[in-house]
Amino acid sequence: MPETLAIINCSQLVTLAGARHARTGGDLRQLAIVEDGALLVRGDFIEAVGRRREIESLISGDCEVVDAGHRVMTPGFVDAHTHPVFAGMRANEFEQRASGASYREIAARGGGIRSTVRATRNASLGDLVKAGQRYANWFLRCGTTTVEAKSGYGLTLEDELKILRAVKQLSEQTALRYVPTFLGAHDIPTEYRSRRQTYVSLIINEMLPRVASERLAEYCDVFCEQDVFSTDEAWQILSAARCQGLGLRVHADQLSLSGGARLAAELNAATADHLEHTDATGIMALAAAKVQPVLLPGSVYALGSRDYPAAREMIDAGLGVVLATDFNPGSSPVPSMTMILSLACTQMKMTPAEAISAATINAAYSLGRGDQIGSLEKGKRADFVIHDASDYRELAYWFGVEHPWRVYVSGKLAGQKPDRQGGHNN
Ligand code: NIG
Ligand code: FE
Repeated sequence: MPETLAIINCSQLVTLAGARHARTGGDLRQLAIVEDGALLVRGDFIEAVGRRREIESLISGDCEVVDAGHRVMTPGFVDAHTHPVFAGMRANEFEQRASGASYREIAARGGGIRSTVRATRNASLGDLVKAGQRYANWFLRCGTTTVEAKSGYGLTLEDELKILRAVKQLSEQTALRYVPTFLGAHDIPTEYRSRRQTYVSLIINEMLPRVASERLAEYCDVFCEQDVFSTDEAWQILSAARCQGLGLRVHADQLSLSGGARLAAELNAATADHLEHTDATGIMALAAAKVQPVLLPGSVYALGSRDYPAAREMIDAGLGVVLATDFNPGSSPVPSMTMILSLACTQMKMTPAEAISAATINAAYSLGRGDQIGSLEKGKRADFVIHDASDYRELAYWFGVEHPWRVYVSGKLAGQKPDRQGGHNN
């Protein structure tokens, strides 16, 4: 018999139960909260969700019971855009930006992505797994239970495979769930700068077939941007990726209106990510093609920019908006989804409820896992977080605080905060 676990005494059990597709419009505000809620887990899965009395009536002798102490419970956050496997870090560039240099200027003089590529090429698989374990712990402590994980700091066949193998090892060795994405088109490597098409051909003819045959990635992404990959080059790579059976994601319109959103729509990609410079035509194209926008306000904040994406216009246009961290060592060194919720509310005028839907159920659908994670419903994976707060709005309201009190993945404790003396005081 699988083990059973009951969590009782949740001030608000934020279930996000509802329709079996990404939430849009007014539905983004429907969190399906159960007051004085409780949850029953059998093995890896949710068995029942309801009021405390209902769940208590289902508890039998050998069930472990956890008293949530009148705290809020939500699904684990699903972070649908991260770059979590790399060597080194770039605090030097952070300092240069603080002194006035821009992200593009730093990249033009050989820093930026290319500096992390140099460090990552010099690292062994073991080094990358070790560094990745540290970040996996950060994600779990912040209440994230699933991350989409991109390669993209290798830019040779062997180094890209090394990163994707590190992702595989991390998914086996840590409690965090990983959804791997191949991002060999993250930058044109220095040695191919004068023969771009040769690098595009290398991706199409060597990297993609190998990644697909070894089943090392579910998605392919391209950084579509001026001075990086043009829309034509991105089209070639993404079309080839589709032929290899991979889903599509695009870094689109991050630093300029480069046409990435329209390309994502044309190719019916799963997501178009960033969208800081997307115009009304691009938003309409995404809506018509039902592409989910993945908004990354952490990178806007960390680059000291004010160009937050037009979240309200996207919600008004009926898009299934997703929020993610873009965790990486350059533009977005942040693992915390609650920090992203705060930025979404203060800078993009999303409500706390909209932001939570975007960071859980909508993110799960963007990764093709809406039937398994992202909400607390019978039959789904028991991935959930008990936060040290009694009202869900506090998750975005108090910022710079790590809220999770207990984090569970597949019904197993995967992270916890030491208890304060006296317990929760709300
Ligand atoms: O999503 N834009 C491209 N890639 C990352 C930045 C990666 C880096 O600076 O190392 C992003 O912001
Ligand atoms: Fe990114």
